[in-house]
Amino acid sequence: MNALDTSALVAVIGAGAMGAGIAQVAAQAGHPVKLYDNRPGAAAQAVAGIDQQLGRLVEKGKLQADARQAIIDRLQPVEAIETLADARLVIEAIVENLQVKQGLLRQLEALCAEDCILASNTSSLSITSLAAGLKRPQQVIGMHFFNPAPLMALVEIVSGLATEPTLAACLYETAKAWGKQPVHARSTPGFIVNRVARPFYAESLRLLQEGAADCATLDALLRDAGGFRMGAFELTDLIGHDVNYAVTCSVFDAFYGDFRFQPSLVQKELVDAGRLGRKSGHGFYNYAEGAQRPPAATLHSPLAVEHCVIEGDLGVMQPLVERLRDNGLDITQRDGRGLIQVGDATLALSDGRLASQRAREEGLRNLVLVDLALDYRSASRIAISWSADTTLEARDQAVALLQRAGLQVAAVADLPGLVVLRTVAMLANEAADAVLQGVGSAADIDLAMRAGVNYPRGPLAWAEQIGIGYTLRVLDNLQRSYGESRYRPSLLLRRKEAQGARLHD
Ligand code: NAI
Repeated sequence: MNALDTSALVAVIGAGAMGAGIAQVAAQAGHPVKLYDNRPGAAAQAVAGIDQQLGRLVEKGKLQADARQAIIDRLQPVEAIETLADARLVIEAIVENLQVKQGLLRQLEALCAEDCILASNTSSLSITSLAAGLKRPQQVIGMHFFNPAPLMALVEIVSGLATEPTLAACLYETAKAWGKQPVHARSTPGFIVNRVARPFYAESLRLLQEGAADCATLDALLRDAGGFRMGAFELTDLIGHDVNYAVTCSVFDAFYGDFRFQPSLVQKELVDAGRLGRKSGHGFYNYAEGAQRPPAATLHSPLAVEHCVIEGDLGVMQPLVERLRDNGLDITQRDGRGLIQVGDATLALSDGRLASQRAREEGLRNLVLVDLALDYRSASRIAISWSADTTLEARDQAVALLQRAGLQVAAVADLPGLVVLRTVAMLANEAADAVLQGVGSAADIDLAMRAGVNYPRGPLAWAEQIGIGYTLRVLDNLQRSYGESRYRPSLLLRRKEAQGARLHD
């Protein structure tokens, strides 16, 4: 299937943040574009705004002046919807309201040619519902851009029950021709990104609620150990808690209250208080003039260690051994079950059990659990927790060892799965369920999370790196600890593990 020819007229309806961005993208790709908004003057104002933005690109030397002019010449603000009759593709980015959008689609269906593609940029409404009752529901499809549309690569091409598959193929190629990174998604709550990303926020909120550590420490761990661009608290402060909480509630409701998606009382309280994040000057952090962001808490050990024993294969944590060796530590390797012994302390990668529980079950003394890192060679910070019997001396020995590797160490309370491991396991779990339920392919889901929300690695690829069996074990242990269906492992993980297959097969 070919992309739409650049001679095809693209109509964008709604000249707000998204509509203006989408119109710019289409015009930059060479299409004639008509931009319409029912607020008089809004379309012209949006085109003027785009012109200004392009002007800044010209100043920076990123765009030629004549290219800017050509883009602006292709962008036509219009004041009457009737002028969109000759559009080949209409993308609506109006208010997020099912009835209003359905009304607009009915109007467009009567106005435009039979083969005109009617695309919606909705981020939460069902494409199937939007198309219901139309004469040509097969012409309706989701084309979900991310904000800001000119900068964000991802576009989810969302098919409803009636959507004609060739349409999805055509828009996929068109989005590619527009320089975007498209993925196919089936119209289900949250599509790919807004569904799979839920645990990123939810696990941090839960950790905060249960007193794992403070916001700054948890954020720093997701950044400096997990490799995420931002931690969940700074990110939700940026998104706005009203918006982020509303998306969570809408996905939770759409899944009939599945506890996987349960909203957080901690976030609700912020919304109730009007602490919406950056835009209101206060969220998890204070953004008032002169307010200081609290620093992440770091444990410091006064001890120095020169030697440790590695027992067996540390699995995903193995690169830490190379890092310790590079930092001059004397290492003895012997058989065992994947532990590090230093002084009186035993260190192990978390497997989703509480440290105290694992210590008792495995007969380990002074057990210090270590969190997952995206890359143990380059991480600058790592979380640890320890069993109740751990002496201060043993804990300091463990901290000294990690310090020796050049890591800053953060203490978290004895909760299952620490911070990064638990977040990644739950992201992978949600991604696996989305694959199982045919929302998207494993490759598209991983791609969507990298291109749409800048994750450092696709959740499914990450689970494969940790090991599908290990990821399952973490989830099983989380579920056992909490006794909640929220942590139930996806059947897909269970099946792939039993088959010895890969998630991307
Ligand atoms: P916005 O409020 O900035 O802009 C909406 C525009 O649509 C306004 O200019 C309004 O005058 C116009 N409008 C409203 N009803 C109209 C109608 N019946 N006919 C013509 N124009 C109408 O909203 P925003 O943020 O641009 O969102 C638009 C759509 O994009 C929504 O469906 C939203 O869910 C979706 N979306 C938003 C994202 C975001 O981060 N803001 C990201 C991805 C999708």
